[in-house]
Amino acid sequence: MKFSSLGQNLSGGSGIEHLMDDLGKALSGVGAAPLMLGGGNPAHIPEMEAVWKIRMEEILGDPAVLRRTLAIYDPPRGNASVLKALADLLRREFGWAVGPENIAVTPGGQTAFYFLFNLFGGRRSDGMTGRILFPLMPEYIGYANQALEPGMFLGVQPSISRTTPHRFKYHVDFQNLNPGPDVAAMCVSRPTNPSGNLISDAELQHLSDIAVQRDIPLIIDNAYGWPFPGIVFGEAKPIWNEQTVHVMSLSKFGLPGTRTAFVVAPPKVASAISSMMAVTGLANGNFGQAIAGPLIESGEIVRLSREIIRPFYLRKRDAALEAIAECFPADVPYALHESEGALFLWLWLEGAKKDSRELYEILKNRGVLVVPGDYFFFGLTDQNWQHRRECLRISFAMSDLDVRAGLKIIGEEIAKAF
Ligand SMILES: Cc1ncc(COP(=O)(O)O)c(C=O)c1O
Repeated sequence: MKFSSLGQNLSGGSGIEHLMDDLGKALSGVGAAPLMLGGGNPAHIPEMEAVWKIRMEEILGDPAVLRRTLAIYDPPRGNASVLKALADLLRREFGWAVGPENIAVTPGGQTAFYFLFNLFGGRRSDGMTGRILFPLMPEYIGYANQALEPGMFLGVQPSISRTTPHRFKYHVDFQNLNPGPDVAAMCVSRPTNPSGNLISDAELQHLSDIAVQRDIPLIIDNAYGWPFPGIVFGEAKPIWNEQTVHVMSLSKFGLPGTRTAFVVAPPKVASAISSMMAVTGLANGNFGQAIAGPLIESGEIVRLSREIIRPFYLRKRDAALEAIAECFPADVPYALHESEGALFLWLWLEGAKKDSRELYEILKNRGVLVVPGDYFFFGLTDQNWQHRRECLRISFAMSDLDVRAGLKIIGEEIAKAF
């Protein structure tokens, strides 16, 4: 048996597989690490679990809805009433001129990116290989192995400002962002996984201007953004024009098990995604749309994001920062990225003698799982940039007690790392 190059590429192991494996084992109780500060699983928020229960009972209580949810294929683009409800919501909330023709459902954001990157990137009729440009590395680990052709990803190193002695922030380095004719799309996660950075409104506008000028899409990954789940701690104005492609997922709203996301894009792109869905999967699963549809239609999804989800994670973020102030020795030169959204703290150990992989192993042996930062710097050509081996991603989504216990151990280990 021989695998193709593509088969080897997709099956040969990846950072995201490693991460999901650690996560799955830790959460199922099989793995050795009880303090799970590594994965991106959202927290189990009691108020949201109560909403899921009510919605499930409503679905079970209506035979027609139950039948539609379990026993009928949706069209590949998604359920017509859910597409309309989301378009109405985006018009109401943001004033975007969108209709159902702008939206396509996918089995989670992960699949949406796989479709989008390979829709725009790769060999083209002009003989060039279209490339996907990530204007601000580090970026989401899950993108790293999604290109179907080699050389499709291009990352740009950020500029870094020190905000306070133990804090820093990344910025898009527009001086070094000069997309050539081979760049077929740009992509940013906002807020950014792993750093918790929030690309500013001015930076986003600048990127959007470049996209319009170059007639390429600007793909914005809203996994943590508005209108749901709204895990945004700074100011971020959503943006829309004929060049923007948004991916909005139900996962961090609390429904990762339903594998449901929405691509909001120009009609031509939404249609292409729907066609790709038909080829690869026939149709989407109905459950996520069945649970969330009425919440989207009523706007309840935005209220829950604003009033339950965002305050929940903000409180957890503050508790984690408090624990760090107590547990990390102040004389150790650690720096955290300004936490402006998402579920993570991004720790930079500039000049540490142990690199992020070594620290990952040491922490894993002490029962704490984090993610070594080098995975998130894919697409960067400069292998010598020390910074890429000096960072760790720490999730604060687990129980406050676990997060505090994990941070205490991390504080002990980073003190020994310099
Ligand atoms: C930035 C970002 N994008 C996309 C995803 C994919 O999520 P899903 O496929 O569950 O929608 C994640 C998951 O952690 C993420 O953090």
